[in-house]
Amino acid sequence: MRPPSPLRRFLRVLREDLEAARHRDPAARNGLEVALVYPGLHAVWTYRLTHRMWREPALRLPARVIAQIARAATGVEIHPGAKIGRRLFIDHGMGVVIGETAVVGDDVLLFHGSTLGGRSMKRGKRHPTLGDRVVVGAGAKILGPVWVGDDVQVGANAVVVKDVPAGSVAVGVPARNRVPQPAVPPAVDPVEDPSLLIEYVI
Ligand SMILES: CC(C)(COP(=O)(O)OP(=O)(O)OC[C@H]1O[C@@H](n2cnc3c(N)ncnc32)[C@H](O)[C@@H]1OP(=O)(O)O)[C@@H](O)C(=O)NCCC(=O)NCCS
Repeated sequence: MRPPSPLRRFLRVLREDLEAARHRDPAARNGLEVALVYPGLHAVWTYRLTHRMWREPALRLPARVIAQIARAATGVEIHPGAKIGRRLFIDHGMGVVIGETAVVGDDVLLFHGSTLGGRSMKRGKRHPTLGDRVVVGAGAKILGPVWVGDDVQVGANAVVVKDVPAGSVAVGVPARNRVPQPAVPPAVDPVEDPSLLIEYVI
């Protein structure tokens, strides 16, 4: 069987983006509605195009122009050079910024006002790297070339300036990492904790 053409693959990625928006927003009613009225989806679709253009040096300027037109229309600024995985969903759109050297994994959810920004004016890697299934709350800022592991939740309005280990929750300014505790506390061995041993004896 012949592999799918680049156009078919591109259209498949766009369709995945639409499905991601439809499934992640409880307010979404059907695919047509999502395709028509979700600015975050329009921004991601435009990024898919501009990122392909970005790979051709001669097309970099038009890619940036298109990205700026998308920004005016959606309120979302995604630099064409950013590397974004599959099924990104930007809920509500407005005020999201994704910088040139940012890397975003698969199945990431960004709320409005979130920023994947830089802390220095130097060239080179200066924006964050997000793992898979990361959720970035409304108004949160992740600044500098920090690493945010898989399944991290960044709280609304947090300012993240240090790495965040996989599976944790980062809240506050500057953000503190909180590793969720297991629902059932692990059993304590009384032999290892003498105070408990006394209680058991009594
Ligand atoms: C951070 C977040 C993911 C935590 O969710 P959670 O795991 O259910 O945690 P909890 O709500 O139990 O809160 C845990 C602690 O963090 C605090 N906290 C939660 N969100 C916080 C935030 N954004 N900033 C500062 N502290 C926060 C809680 O007060 C609580 O503190 P305590 O342990 O001292 O009582 C969630 O609160 C959040 O901010 N999600 C973003 C949602 C969003 O942006 N929605 C926009 C919809 S339009």
